[in-house]
Amino acid sequence: MRKQILAAVALMCLPFMASAQRPRPTADLPKWEHVADTPQMGWSSWNCFMTDINEDLIKATADAMVELGLVDAGYVYLNLDDGWHGERDANGFVHEDLEKFPSGIKALADYLHSKGMKLGIYSDAGDFTCACYTGSRGHEYQDAITYASWGVDYLKYDWCFTSNANPKGSYILMRNALRKAGRPILFSICEWGSNKPWEWAEEVGHSWRTTGDIGPAFLPVPTTYNEQGRPNWKPQSVIDIIEKNEPLRRYAGPGHWNDPDMLEVGNSITVDGVYYEMTDSEDRAHFTIWCMMAAPLILGNDLTKITDETLAIIKNKEMIAVDQDPLGIQGLRLKTEGDLQYWFKPLSDGDWAFCVMNIGEADVPLAIDWSTLEVDDELSGRKTSFSKVNYSVKDIWNGGAPVNTLVKGKGRNKGQMVTNVLNTTVGSHDVVAYRLTPVATK
Ligand code: GLA
Repeated sequence: MRKQILAAVALMCLPFMASAQRPRPTADLPKWEHVADTPQMGWSSWNCFMTDINEDLIKATADAMVELGLVDAGYVYLNLDDGWHGERDANGFVHEDLEKFPSGIKALADYLHSKGMKLGIYSDAGDFTCACYTGSRGHEYQDAITYASWGVDYLKYDWCFTSNANPKGSYILMRNALRKAGRPILFSICEWGSNKPWEWAEEVGHSWRTTGDIGPAFLPVPTTYNEQGRPNWKPQSVIDIIEKNEPLRRYAGPGHWNDPDMLEVGNSITVDGVYYEMTDSEDRAHFTIWCMMAAPLILGNDLTKITDETLAIIKNKEMIAVDQDPLGIQGLRLKTEGDLQYWFKPLSDGDWAFCVMNIGEADVPLAIDWSTLEVDDELSGRKTSFSKVNYSVKDIWNGGAPVNTLVKGKGRNKGQMVTNVLNTTVGSHDVVAYRLTPVATK
């Protein structure tokens, strides 16, 4: 009898025993290290061209990035966003759309690498991308192998058509696949902050979107409704995004950044008949706060038609250095007074970046009194200590020119004026920005 029971149990267990012998899914693997020790910089096709992309456009953009000095300024990634996918073959491997990219993505990667640049690509954790091309769900390892074989360096991974998928699990799956594929690839998580990725993605990706999609709008855009009474899509404005991204500073750091979405500097769009564009001063304010927030700097404008003003904004070395500072601390908004926001970012070697943004309609003359702006930042353990430390001041939007002032400290540097007030004017929808450097005193 006992034998019969054992035999029956063994029979019942057969399917499980068989499954125990199936290959197990790969154990968790770490994300690639040191691919985003400072926030990533580059250009992406989405904000300006959406899915209307092709090989000629991308190569012309790469050429422009080199010729305009943008690659030298640090913008090394050229990212294909949605719209490059062709079909999957009978074995499930994905292919590029050969009408758009007749030489293939591998040739494009080779072209970029020959120019000292890197290639980014886009996919989605669901069945389809947001523009309804094939998604990676169920093909994660195949896709990662394909990207690695093409020489891809960056993957933006979106969250459309994921139905009931588990967000953390889905992104871990692709992280593992990217690691297993053997080529270092920066992993940019794009689920719009819907599932609080800042709480779980530090070990998963190198950046995570914190908001919905940006548009070239400085102030929040009013909601409009369609005939069924549903709200129409509207872009997230610069100010909307700042409000969502600023409180998340403690989650960011080297290798894992809050991503308040790509840059709209120099871009314009028309959606549902509405035209959106920012002025140069709004662009400057947008760029400044993205640098203060240690955001990835991914350009989104047509580089073959760029104006001198736009180029001067995105190439400002002093501002880029604030974003790329190796300390990797996201800046903080110290206070808001009326239309003025006061921001600080601790930098390496005791420096600070400081800016004032004016979101109002009128220019504001300002006497910056440092004694009212002391920062005691728990996150970085840094204090400005303006009453004790002398700082020299450089004007970031005036070519890094020294401002004839030192923040008042205990000591004095012979021959330099020491004052605790800096007089300036902050234009409407504009910004003033400075770099403060401690000055040794005897
Ligand atoms: C989502 C993303 C955008 C862009 C589009 C592409 O909306 O948030 O940044 O990648 O998909 O379809």
